[in-house]
Amino acid sequence: MADQIFHVFRGDAKGGDLKEYAVPPMEGMVVLDAMHHIQAHFDSTLACRWNCKAAKCGSCSAEINGKPRLMCKTRVDDFHGAPITVRPIKVFPLLKDLVTDVSWNYRVNKEIPPFTPSAEDARSKEWRMTPLDVERLFEFRKCIECFLCQDVCHVLREHHGTDRYYGPRFMVRIAALEMHPKDTLTRTDLLAGKGGIGYCNITKCCEEVCPESIHITDNAIIPLKERTADDHFDPWRALLRAFGGRKEPRGT
Ligand code: SF4
Ligand code: SF4
Ligand code: FES
Repeated sequence: MADQIFHVFRGDAKGGDLKEYAVPPMEGMVVLDAMHHIQAHFDSTLACRWNCKAAKCGSCSAEINGKPRLMCKTRVDDFHGAPITVRPIKVFPLLKDLVTDVSWNYRVNKEIPPFTPSAEDARSKEWRMTPLDVERLFEFRKCIECFLCQDVCHVLREHHGTDRYYGPRFMVRIAALEMHPKDTLTRTDLLAGKGGIGYCNITKCCEEVCPESIHITDNAIIPLKERTADDHFDPWRALLRAFGGRKEPRGT
């Protein structure tokens, strides 16, 4: 079998270019294997982030033939011998080769008030939740923080909107908190303000690239938009929020 040709971005914030490598075929090879082969046999200075090689840590995100994907989950034989181009994810500042600086995401994460149970629940040894609630939260908890959804979100990518919108990853995180029946906080002020949920126009590009198949728009963003609109434009809900302590139950 012929060698597989890879064009890999080499460079840093100052500039760079694609470099060609011919990698010998290996059974079941994924793109990350090829990057490791390049490091081991051609150039040990190739910078490439990875950790689990099992599609679970979210470290090995890259743009493969223009599509944001996990390198460890992308089989080379899916490309049927055609050259494969590997570039860093574009939305975050480039550090070196395939590695970008994703620290903005961790700063956003700190701005989101964490899970806060009632004092009574905090003291209790046992929490009862319906299977439906558990299932709904489980979908959001599958997120591996690969930031592929952040990479394709046009608000962040085309409009450089990191100062206006938290991005789909953090809509998923906020949904996991807002829809938790044992959480007592309401984060719709944050969503309407700094979180910038109004900037999402539900094009679903984020859903298409999620390796965990999370229904980011249908199950997280749309219900959060509805809750935010309720809290900001429904006077009864606004009053409840002002004078009530706990979150009231919601249909979505
Ligand atoms: S649906 Fe919203 S969050 Fe997802 S990519 Fe589009 S604008 Fe971004
Ligand atoms: S929601 Fe999906 S695409 Fe976005 S960070 Fe989580 S796992 Fe990755
Ligand atoms: S190496 Fe962990 S997701 Fe790819």
